[in-house]
Amino acid sequence: MISLGINYGSHESSVAIVKEGKLVFAAAEERYTRIKQDSAFPVNAIKAAFMELDIDAQEVDVVSLSWPLKGDALLHDAKLFVTGGFGRTRSRAKKLAAQLLSSLNAQKKFQNLYRSFFPPPQNGFVFADHHAAHALSTFCLAEQEASVCVVFDGRGTTEATTIWKFENGHPRKLFERSFPDSIGVLYANATRLLGFRPLSDEWKVMGLAAYGRPNVDLDEFVLKRGWETTFAGRHFLPANDNEPSGFERRFAEYGRKGDGEIAQPHMDFAASVQRVCEEAMISYVAHSVALAGTADVCLAGGVALNCKANGEILRLPFVKSLVVQPAAGDDGTAIGAAFAGSIKFGVPFRRDPSFTPYLGTSYGDDEIESVLKRAKVRYERPENFVEDVATCLAADRLVGWFQGRMEFGPRALGHRSILASPIKVENRDRVNEAVKFREIWRPFAPAVMHEHGARYFQDYRMSPYMILSFWASEHARLVVPAVVHADGSCRVQSVTADNNPLFHSLLDSFSKRTGVHVLMNTSFNLKGEPIVESPLDALRTFYSSGLDVLAIGPFVVRK
Ligand SMILES: [Fe+2]
Repeated sequence: MISLGINYGSHESSVAIVKEGKLVFAAAEERYTRIKQDSAFPVNAIKAAFMELDIDAQEVDVVSLSWPLKGDALLHDAKLFVTGGFGRTRSRAKKLAAQLLSSLNAQKKFQNLYRSFFPPPQNGFVFADHHAAHALSTFCLAEQEASVCVVFDGRGTTEATTIWKFENGHPRKLFERSFPDSIGVLYANATRLLGFRPLSDEWKVMGLAAYGRPNVDLDEFVLKRGWETTFAGRHFLPANDNEPSGFERRFAEYGRKGDGEIAQPHMDFAASVQRVCEEAMISYVAHSVALAGTADVCLAGGVALNCKANGEILRLPFVKSLVVQPAAGDDGTAIGAAFAGSIKFGVPFRRDPSFTPYLGTSYGDDEIESVLKRAKVRYERPENFVEDVATCLAADRLVGWFQGRMEFGPRALGHRSILASPIKVENRDRVNEAVKFREIWRPFAPAVMHEHGARYFQDYRMSPYMILSFWASEHARLVVPAVVHADGSCRVQSVTADNNPLFHSLLDSFSKRTGVHVLMNTSFNLKGEPIVESPLDALRTFYSSGLDVLAIGPFVVRK
């Protein structure tokens, strides 16, 4: 049974394949089209999946979209319109009517679109519940079978935040808080107000928050309902598109144009938004633990990319384990959709202890070498490849690292990474100058040998996906200052000989030269571009940036 899951129709289109109940491929369309967060139909990612897995399009049994019928969402919007949740303007009414009309045959349109590229799937199409797809995407890597999952989204169909338990082969919804009372919508409003792109640049607000004090009072927008802390959504929806919301009007003094200077009040505002976001997330996690009777928690949904908040949740005394899907945003729903399709046709869903985020395309040594030859690049194939690269890193060279199957999700996890020594704080500025062009909100993350994690990070636990933050230990502040963020937090990737053998041996080799078991790991891309996918992307980025060394497959290219 081959089940193809697709996220299409919102942003960051993506694809996943579940074969005989096992997740075997996942990738986002942006990596192939080189358009960041590409929302086009993911035809290139589907073709790449078939090629990687050596599958013929005819063999696909079911195609599953991670969005259900649009009717429910539009009825919900109509209700909001009538009850004053949305501003009752003529243009809003027109837009709703147009959306309603176009939604009538949306599923048919999707099926036709798929058929225009590929033969129809043998068992047909499934339209999965969006939040259930988020939940399935993280249940598949849960530590315990009986985990509870909280999905924090801007909005799914009608829902903003949901709580799930996996029972009798299906995810069961235990709680729903509907849009627009949504943590994601609050964060998107703050992102836009601070001059960034909403539904894309929320991580910049989180990064800026580390430089600020949470001294802006947001209480008038916080809703407390018993155990629940959430946000009064009607203040976040503008009467018309492209107008400021009530929230944005109220805090206009913190507004900033895209290229405007970032001053202390902007950072303080970001810190205040981050704090209320954490309070709200913690209220839902506490409730989910009580509701499901388990202390093993999973998170998904775009808001769960907030690694600072995730770190706070990890340290709650009533949380035993915390697992966050590394592709927590809508891209990850392709995984859940693929599982939903396979469950529907009788393949039981199983948690997969061997889950890996390295689910994308890969290139053989011959393919890589032919790209290097074609480009007439001088390269070597060192006998002691790992030692050679570790020596470069120990000498403060900036290394582009391209190995194996591409990671799924927004973080580079040591397969498409830029690596540098974390020992000198100037190395952070050097990476910024070389590729990221001085983005002060960008914290550079540490990849650490798991067996040495506790020396560098307080309350350290296994964190393989760089989606949990820890406080740096005194030792880390002294020894690896380049990967400690302004507030002392670190977004950690734990590397083991099992989860990433080559990267682990590189860390080991680096530690033998320097006594330090940590490398700085950031994504292999130029500012504003998607992470590199192919050897050619890697070569282009290498020669367009200030990187010193490219370690690609078994080959090394030096400038
Ligand atoms: Fe979502």
